[in-house]
Amino acid sequence: MIEGAADEPTAADRWRDALTAWSLPERVLEAATESPFRHDVARFAVDDTIERESTSARWAREVLPPRGGTVLDVGCGGGRSVAPLIPPATEVIGVDRTGAMLDEFVDAATRAGVARRTVHGDWPDVMATTPTADVAICHHVLFDVADVVPFLIALTARARLAVVVELPVRHPMTAWSEAFEHFWELDRPDGPTHLDLVAVLRELGLDPEYTVSPRRPLSRFGADPDNLVPVARRRLALPADRDGELAHWLAEHPPAFVAEVATIRWPGAADPVGHPIA
Ligand SMILES: C[S@@+](CC[C@H](N)C(=O)[O-])C[C@H]1O[C@@H](n2cnc3c(N)ncnc32)[C@H](O)[C@@H]1O
Repeated sequence: MIEGAADEPTAADRWRDALTAWSLPERVLEAATESPFRHDVARFAVDDTIERESTSARWAREVLPPRGGTVLDVGCGGGRSVAPLIPPATEVIGVDRTGAMLDEFVDAATRAGVARRTVHGDWPDVMATTPTADVAICHHVLFDVADVVPFLIALTARARLAVVVELPVRHPMTAWSEAFEHFWELDRPDGPTHLDLVAVLRELGLDPEYTVSPRRPLSRFGADPDNLVPVARRRLALPADRDGELAHWLAEHPPAFVAEVATIRWPGAADPVGHPIA
């Protein structure tokens, strides 16, 4: 139950309002030749840059059973976040709204020799058809979720032991704020932060613990400087015929990607004997 005086915004209200402020104006969206929000599958693919000792991976492994554990990964992408949990996990369940990400997730699980299931759709809408797991993880998704309360409640309800989430300490689009000012004369907001999410979790009575650590290494695709201009062009809704100008500007104003991430963990609330798929 969310508590708060009738005239006072709750932490969940503040989270929603801060994220809504990031909406792009029509004049920018109309100029876009592809969705400014689309992700490259290759950026989220499992490769030789996977960091097994990140705080988020360690915090999830600490609570997984030593053998035979299951992990639910919501917004799983290509499986980079769940990869360091295999072993001890022997089954992974990937949920994603993007079918191509799930194809990559299945390939990664096959290469790792682990059992896997996938659920294609939007969380929490697909909760009813998603199996319960020992641990639920959700990394680098929550800055996309304005209506965060049902999302968090559903994650908690599908985890028997714990939920572990990772997110940058600031909105990832802050990396492009200076560029939006330059190319579109558009002021970007700067909230919310991981602390605003912790406040929502406390408001829900979920008892979160959290810490901040350096961001884990990018994938080979993410770190490849040749991919910077195409990604910047898409995020900034610029036409390809401005690539030269964009490359020149980026060389002098490299985007300030958020260098620290927060790991937040709280107890799961699923029935310990499991939950049938509805
Ligand atoms: C930035 S990627 C992160 C991927 C992965 N968790 C990682 O850390 O490498 C975000 C992923 O979440 C998915 N996603 C975002 N919101 C979602 C939602 N409400 N339900 C299901 N998938 C979602 C996107 O399709 C994308 O694959």
